[in-house]
Amino acid sequence: MKLPFSPSSSPPSSLLRNNNKTRFSPYLFTLLVFIFFVAILYGEDFMCIFGQQLQLYSNPHTFFSTTPERIKKEKLAFAKGKTEEGCDIFSGRWVRDELTRPHYQESECPYIQPQLTCQEHGRPDKDYQYWRWQPHACDLPTFNASLMLETLRGKRMMFVGDSLNRGQYVSMVCLLHRLIPEDAKSMETFGSLTVFTAKEYNATIEFYWAPFLLESNSDDAVIHRISDRIVRKGSINKHGRHWKGVDILVFNTYLWWMTGLKMKILLGSFDDEVKEIVELSTEDAYRMAMKSMLRWVRLNMNPKKTRVFFTSMSPSHGKSIDWGGEEGGNCYNETTVIEDPTYWGSDCRKSVMEVIGEVFSKSKVPITFLNITQLSSYRRDAHTSIYKKQWNPLTPQQLANPVSYADCVHWCLPGLQDTWNELLFAKLFYP
Ligand SMILES: *[C@@H]1O[C@H](CO)[C@@H](O)[C@H](O)[C@H]1NC(C)=O
Ligand SMILES: *[C@@H]1O[C@H](CO)[C@@H](O)[C@H](O)[C@H]1NC(C)=O
Ligand SMILES: *[C@@H]1O[C@H](CO)[C@@H](O)[C@H](O)[C@H]1NC(C)=O
Ligand SMILES: *[C@@H]1O[C@H](CO)[C@@H](O)[C@H](O)[C@H]1NC(C)=O
Repeated sequence: MKLPFSPSSSPPSSLLRNNNKTRFSPYLFTLLVFIFFVAILYGEDFMCIFGQQLQLYSNPHTFFSTTPERIKKEKLAFAKGKTEEGCDIFSGRWVRDELTRPHYQESECPYIQPQLTCQEHGRPDKDYQYWRWQPHACDLPTFNASLMLETLRGKRMMFVGDSLNRGQYVSMVCLLHRLIPEDAKSMETFGSLTVFTAKEYNATIEFYWAPFLLESNSDDAVIHRISDRIVRKGSINKHGRHWKGVDILVFNTYLWWMTGLKMKILLGSFDDEVKEIVELSTEDAYRMAMKSMLRWVRLNMNPKKTRVFFTSMSPSHGKSIDWGGEEGGNCYNETTVIEDPTYWGSDCRKSVMEVIGEVFSKSKVPITFLNITQLSSYRRDAHTSIYKKQWNPLTPQQLANPVSYADCVHWCLPGLQDTWNELLFAKLFYP
């Protein structure tokens, strides 16, 4: 049986070969000769100029961005078509849609964790389920569950990250599982790894808990609420060995870096008796993780056969003054979307987004960026709020003041995270 995507018949131009061509292009040669003479004339600026040009030289992506026709020849794995030229699918607005939303019913998907089943836990309204993301410049392709599942035949898809990525993972399973008969699917957990198997397809959709991507003291998949968080530098292989051989990878990491303090970075090993720890700003620590991730992808993923996605920061709605609400409020009791297109929120998302933009733009590693931050920031209504399983009994004081225990971080399913997967679907098949 033929899979719905076929490898391109013409030999795909490899990044490596382009790279070599670049290395010997007359343009660069002339440039280097020029730099050499400038360097002799202006001795003291030598290192500065040379350093900058070397960066350009060793970075074909930067170089290629001036020659877009070369990029276009690269056919991404799984691509079936293209999104309309000039359409940023992450730029758009929410429209009410009671005809085609939600994609499934909460009660019909047994895989949703009790932290995300809002209806079961008494949420009085269902308004949050009826919104569709409408990009300004084009329409999103319709999420086709059978296409997604056929594509995964004989393959592995894995989500790696924190509980927000787990939500997106569960959403993906909920979007697909209806096509699989009851006795031909299973969901099992082995430590940090949760595996949904579609037996007849020989396909798995997996989630791997690694809230920092790198090794940390919060890696236990069950007991991970540690206030004094420590991340080990250069440790991505500790988890990365479990991601090898995956065909479609979806990373996220953000929330756990937001300690409000400097991040503690361990230089040696967690087994060292005397631990060598340095403190970095959130941005510098996050940059370190992004670079590790990119390096891991470059060394372990074949860009011709696999795809890698990175989901940007999931916004929280912990302070209603951010959107002009009353002081002391949060997402609790919010049932409508934020209409102000310029709304962004107040935490340090902006500086982290800048780090992501900076690291990704300097890299040639083909990772598809799912920029869900802005579109999710309009969705103060979509959080689980108080409508989730509570692990500890609530005190009378808490019960009297629901705002105090509302969860304004995680999202109800079905809901917002199904849209993240629609965007993933769009970027997978129509990059
Ligand atoms: C969905 O994908 C399947 C499998 O590729 C295809 O046969 C079907 O026509 C698609 N459905 C729609 C509505 O595009
Ligand atoms: C099932 O899929 C795995 C990859 O996930 C592959 O290695 C294996 O060969 C497949 N088995 C069959 C019988 O197709
Ligand atoms: C919830 O919001 C409604 C109107 O949107 C308001 O009438 C009600 O007082 C609010 N309830 C609480 C407990 O804040
Ligand atoms: C993501 O989208 C937001 C809003 O459109 C934009 O401000 C930001 O620069 C984008 N981030 C990146 C890294 O492209």
